[in-house]
Amino acid sequence: MSLWLAVAATGCAVEPPSQPDGWDSAVALQSARDLDARPGVVEVDLTARVGDVEIVPGKKTPTWTYNGGLPGPLIRASVGDRVIVHFRNELSEPTTVHWHGVRLPAEMDGAPGHSQPETPPGGGFTYDFVVPDAGLYWYHPHVNSAVQEGNGLYGPLLVEDPDEPAELGDELVLVLSDISLRDDGSLEDPDAGGNLGTLFGREGDLLLVNGRVNPVIGARAGLRQRWRIVNAAKSRYYQLLITDHRFTRIGGDGGFLEHPVEEDRILLTPGERADVVVTPRGAPGSTLSVRWVPYDRGYGATFARPEVEAFRLRLADEPVVHDEPLPEVARTIEALDTTAARHVDLQLTREEDSDDVVMGINGVPSWKAEPLMAAVGETAVWTVENTMAFDHPFHLHGFFFQVLGADGQPVRPLAWKDTVNVPVDGSARFAVRYDNRPGMWMFHCHILDHAEAGMMGMLHVVR
Ligand code: C2O
Ligand code: CU
Ligand code: CU
Repeated sequence: MSLWLAVAATGCAVEPPSQPDGWDSAVALQSARDLDARPGVVEVDLTARVGDVEIVPGKKTPTWTYNGGLPGPLIRASVGDRVIVHFRNELSEPTTVHWHGVRLPAEMDGAPGHSQPETPPGGGFTYDFVVPDAGLYWYHPHVNSAVQEGNGLYGPLLVEDPDEPAELGDELVLVLSDISLRDDGSLEDPDAGGNLGTLFGREGDLLLVNGRVNPVIGARAGLRQRWRIVNAAKSRYYQLLITDHRFTRIGGDGGFLEHPVEEDRILLTPGERADVVVTPRGAPGSTLSVRWVPYDRGYGATFARPEVEAFRLRLADEPVVHDEPLPEVARTIEALDTTAARHVDLQLTREEDSDDVVMGINGVPSWKAEPLMAAVGETAVWTVENTMAFDHPFHLHGFFFQVLGADGQPVRPLAWKDTVNVPVDGSARFAVRYDNRPGMWMFHCHILDHAEAGMMGMLHVVR
């Protein structure tokens, strides 16, 4: 009798298959320590400061960090929790913290001059808000953001739903970004490349996964993993694929989709998130390459950057695990009723008659723009048209929207999003309902060089 049968015959429980020991240690994120023992409250310290991180082995890189790490610490909460963040600014310039995607009160949104003053060097601010929706969110500065984020300031905020189905897969939070270093390990000037850099959007030469270059993640053939991914790069689109593999996308910016979709690649614009399940396959002991492949976001994009390995999966030597079916992850999402919706038409534009690259919305750069007006409770349909030869990932603060197709019907499966790509010479359309959170809300291109060049505006939601 084999050992296997012997175990079964004696009635001992058979251990469920698990990922190899230390499978995620190469991409482990520092976690924010919860200073508050009360259930339902997550209270953390977050300090922006320069810190030495090791990106290239053996070289110290002084980077702008939250709590000394690149990326910043993983803040974990459950739906409905109150999150309190004691923020300190130990940088040499003012900053704020924006909580990308979270439906919080406007005063907590980190929009300088609108929802809060800039936090000066040596200053602090207490963010205090409830997280109403499960999903992966992220935080980053909203002052001089192309430079500050390019220098390393970003981190993940994971809002978990204790009631979601168990066994969706062993979970990894993956913060994707990029960075450019000089030979001595120091950061490349974030403003390098002049006008052309601004126009194209500056991409770093090195791809980072949780701050590491090409890390190796342990896996087991046939045993699924669940990747919670955010693209925190300031300009780079991430398109990932694994030869002969497919991904099951179960969620996006604002939690689960209406139902999962099968995809042969993961595409994320700056700011977007994905919740994907992947089952690695291959010979035990072999390595799978997770490749970044160029995505054509406008003139030259596919020539500028060759394909590169973003990270690897090393399959354990043990035999293949027999796949278990994925539990059902359906979610009811009602399509917004747009019959009486207000229509908002925006064009993403570039000013032609200026020496510096200036971009805008409806021909007006952010520093000259008047806010759009809206009312609490109102539903609106935004049409965002691209007049430039580059894609723009368009992001609205504070509210989720539903992307609409050219026919005005919501794209299936229904999903809540806060960032959507506006392709070259094309447009994006979405429906949004302003729930009861009045205030000033920003919207902008999430290629942060474009946002800083003026492609940004304000939405004033009033009671
Ligand atoms: Cu990530 Cu103003 O946004
Ligand atoms: Cu945002
Ligand atoms: Cu843009």
